[in-house]
Amino acid sequence: MASIVSRISEDDFLTPDFFHNPYPFYERLLSESPVVWSQKVNGWLVTPFDSVQQGLQSMDFGAGGRIAQAASLLDPDVRVQNRAVFDCLEAMMSFRDAPDHTRLRRLVSKAFTARRIGSMKSDIETLVNDLLDQWPTDRQFDLIQMFSFKLPAMVISKLLGIPFSRLSDLNRWAEGIVNLLSAGVMTPEAARSANEAVIEASEYLESLIKEKEQHPTHDLLSDLIVIENEDGSFSREELIALVIQLFFAGFETTEGLIGNALNILLQQRESYSELVDDQTITEKLTEEVLRFDNSIQRQTRIARKNIEVNGVEIIQGDYVFFLIGAANRDPRRFTTPNHFNSHRKDAGNVSFGHGPHFCLGAPLARLETQIALRNIANRFPELRLVGDTQYGNLLAVRKPKSLMLLTQ
Ligand code: HEM
Repeated sequence: MASIVSRISEDDFLTPDFFHNPYPFYERLLSESPVVWSQKVNGWLVTPFDSVQQGLQSMDFGAGGRIAQAASLLDPDVRVQNRAVFDCLEAMMSFRDAPDHTRLRRLVSKAFTARRIGSMKSDIETLVNDLLDQWPTDRQFDLIQMFSFKLPAMVISKLLGIPFSRLSDLNRWAEGIVNLLSAGVMTPEAARSANEAVIEASEYLESLIKEKEQHPTHDLLSDLIVIENEDGSFSREELIALVIQLFFAGFETTEGLIGNALNILLQQRESYSELVDDQTITEKLTEEVLRFDNSIQRQTRIARKNIEVNGVEIIQGDYVFFLIGAANRDPRRFTTPNHFNSHRKDAGNVSFGHGPHFCLGAPLARLETQIALRNIANRFPELRLVGDTQYGNLLAVRKPKSLMLLTQ
């Protein structure tokens, strides 16, 4: 526990209003207490853009040890009974530090290349248009169910070489794991569901890997298997953990970004009309959505030593929440930060993290979102929102639960 405690009222933190719109709370933190201890999450909330960037980059804040620390609040029996999920999470690169993280990242980067992502472009165009073909034109429908929930799972299946017939399993497994990781405190029920998800996913992947070893196909998983066989340091357990991580790291995040994008653009009609008229702005628009309303709102670390952040002393072992969603609205970094402006001169964001754990899937997420927005605007210039947008209650992931639309 920290020795110097800077305080702020948390009455409006993690409430239904907060989940609907966290930005007023973030604005207050940024102006009154940029680095502050939170009783509610039992950790530090860090909001300034520079401090978030530096913290995520710095070896003084570890990504490893977070799973063990979160799981330590569970009954020891629950941890033992659900060992599969905890072992799998510990094997993922997100939850490891150098040198293991560096080793895994180097191996994966050999197969997860810019060229491979670029080569997905026409597949993504086809998947997007197939989904758009199914949008009803005579009644309202939910964008999340009919599009943004489906597309990322299809893209990752295609990338890895997993048949579409397993899509509902992939979604179920991803959901089980995300629910355990994104809840404020791990519960025994969440641990059990995530454990079942990991056992089922691992069994399936074991057999798929054996099949691809016999009959390699042109996909990411086949390439990763070759790398695993060539490099004695990449274990089968790590390969399976990596593939499972790709499911859940890429699903909800991209689903949320597409949902948040349409929500903003249709609320600020002039931005949507601009996109309809000029689709060359899609890249800039996607960057501004990432800054303005990112689907990932925080990343956590554990302080490896006593360290001062923005004038506040954080003690070794303290849990730190780097609030990406707040950093992206820091008035010291952005002029009029609460204004959505895809033409801003000071464009930028920390939405995919920073430093050694920078999002591996950022080029893919950007590509999917850009292709989706361009095709939607092209085919549905009269698209409009119907009703209010509802959000879930996770601090980590911000995405609409549903987004009702009419095409004309
Ligand atoms: C809008 C979509 C996405 C957002 C906002 C996002 C955000 C992030 C962030 C903030 C991190 C840094 C985590 C940290 O610092 O601890 C991260 C890491 C990661 N992301 Fe993403 N992500 C997205 C999509 C994807 C996709 C599509 C994939 C894969 C297909 C992916 C795979 C990963 C992986 C493997 C890591 C861990 C990298 C490491 O630890 O070295 N992400 N992501």
